[in-house]
Amino acid sequence: MKNFHALTAGILLATTMSHAAPKFSEHDQQVDALLAQMTLDEKIGQMVQVDCAALKDKSDVQKYFLGSVLSGGNSDPDTGNTAPDWLNFVTQFQNQARQTRLKIPLIYGIDAVHGHNNIDGATIFPHHVGLGATHDPKLIERAERVTAEEVAGTGIRWAFAPCIAVPQDEHWGRTYEGYSDNTALVTKLGAAAVIGFQGKKLSAEPTSVLACAKHFIGDGGTTNGIDQGNTICDEATLRKLFLPPYVAAIKAGVGSIMVSYSSWNGVKMHGNKYLLTDVLKKELGFNGFLVSDWAAIDQISPDYKYDVEQSINAGLDMIMIPNGAGKSNNYIEFIDDLKALVAEGKVPQARVDDAVRRILRIKFALGLFESTATDPQLTAAIGSPEHRAVARECVRESLVLLKNEKNILPLAKNIKHLAVVGVAADDLGMQCGGWTIDWQGGRGNVTHGGTTLLAAIKQTVSPDTQVTFSPDASDLKNADAVIAVVGELPYAEMKGDRSDLNLSAEDAALIAKAKASGAPVVTILRPAADFEFRTGRQRCVRRRVAAGHRRFGPDGRFVRRSQIHRQIAAQLAGQRGQIRRAAIPVWLWAEIILSAAEVFFVGGKFFYQMIARCSGGRHIGLPGGMLNAS
Ligand code: BGC
Ligand code: BGC
Repeated sequence: MKNFHALTAGILLATTMSHAAPKFSEHDQQVDALLAQMTLDEKIGQMVQVDCAALKDKSDVQKYFLGSVLSGGNSDPDTGNTAPDWLNFVTQFQNQARQTRLKIPLIYGIDAVHGHNNIDGATIFPHHVGLGATHDPKLIERAERVTAEEVAGTGIRWAFAPCIAVPQDEHWGRTYEGYSDNTALVTKLGAAAVIGFQGKKLSAEPTSVLACAKHFIGDGGTTNGIDQGNTICDEATLRKLFLPPYVAAIKAGVGSIMVSYSSWNGVKMHGNKYLLTDVLKKELGFNGFLVSDWAAIDQISPDYKYDVEQSINAGLDMIMIPNGAGKSNNYIEFIDDLKALVAEGKVPQARVDDAVRRILRIKFALGLFESTATDPQLTAAIGSPEHRAVARECVRESLVLLKNEKNILPLAKNIKHLAVVGVAADDLGMQCGGWTIDWQGGRGNVTHGGTTLLAAIKQTVSPDTQVTFSPDASDLKNADAVIAVVGELPYAEMKGDRSDLNLSAEDAALIAKAKASGAPVVTILRPAADFEFRTGRQRCVRRRVAAGHRRFGPDGRFVRRSQIHRQIAAQLAGQRGQIRRAAIPVWLWAEIILSAAEVFFVGGKFFYQMIARCSGGRHIGLPGGMLNAS
């Protein structure tokens, strides 16, 4: 009965929504005319997306009529990693496509998930959890506009973003890729991001970049937050928690959706015809195309040909193919299998035609048939001060002040001696987190143009202020205040799954050492692993701060949880006006908790924003915009 009601509600919703969903049908005459000329090989080629590193040779684009190429997190140009390298690289694939019989342009895809993050010197934005903390759809739209311009500047017109997961368990390694645990907030911000990437409408404008809402559906609901795991719930719950962001993204015109690795009640999403075709395409009226995740169909069963059959019949339109494990160049295997399946009648020709029609519609909508040229000014503007200013604004708006005991903040600009401690204070790679240059991110100077927290502090204090830095807090003598920076190392996807969410022993020791100096301590916590948000934002703040205090209580005193709850609750209550804005990504905490990312000293004072709400989950690294503080 419950499910019945949910279904009824879903259908009602869909009736309203499908009217709003763009049909991408403006070019259908051309699409149909083209389709009528295409051989089965040419059609199947359109449905294949190969990782550039898995291509045997670039000419395979031409040979197999490939519809798309992507760069996975570790797949870079062979010549280098600058924007011109990327533009040149992508153009070579495009040129191959334009030499095919029907000259159907290629669409190149990339994970521009917090800025155009694979490219050296591009503007790095906070991860989604940081953007979620801003609660500001207009700002997110602007951020993704900048990202779209940078993506377009490398000849790419497709970003695998936004991730509109609604993470329910912060043990999940991808928590930071979601805006929030709150469905309504994700719904609003995801739609804004789509408009940021694509514009009001997906179009032939050179900077209209195809967005990709991902990962459909329930990626953030898996048991124990296990990446690619199983989401167990009834349909009403699935719809309530995870569907609204897709409804809104479709309404905003999203042209592509990526399917989730995860399962729903034990059934792999990549084989779930009901959700992919009946719900997403028919009920919600999604007229764009569905792309698989990286080698994800391989997980349906041990039989690859069966996986191809299941996934295409379930409604997948394009399959993302790296070198599968132990399968070199398995795009060729995919092509052979799909061809055989059509011949055997196991995959209807009509299904193939539908998939190709959807892909071609998007290519026409993007104007790729007319031009795939890139304006050199877009390339030159990658990482520009104007773009970085937007990233910095995102950081500012995302700050979270958890507590400010004894009103130690703001610190005076002319404070005499500031001791900065913690390796994370001077590590760009840690600030940026995963999905930065490499899939897993990295330590140290991973990219150009960024500013570490330490550098930003030095640039901001008065000329009379002495700033000393000791990674291990060994130099605290005569400090008037200590800024301790702690947090996780970079990671991405399943590598970030954690069973233990406590601070590391090293970080705990660092804070204890800072406190032992007797100077006021400002702790900046990148809360990748120290954050509980399942029960809502205020409780989350209370619980975590309480937990923190129990471990690292001021002056070694044990502070009762209920006491902290009261304090924080009062603080939150008193900050209502600002509560709407900031939220999660940077936690400054201890004697004082201030978000460090808006680095500092505006108008002679440390600038900070009181918090707020815990919108999101954990955040790896200080919001990337910190990088851009100049
Ligand atoms: C991730 C996707 C990503 C894709 C391509 C997958 O492992 O789940 O989010 O878009 O790889 O890099
Ligand atoms: C790729 C990523 C991908 C991941 C999935 C990595 O090698 O670079 O893009 O998401 O594999 O396992």
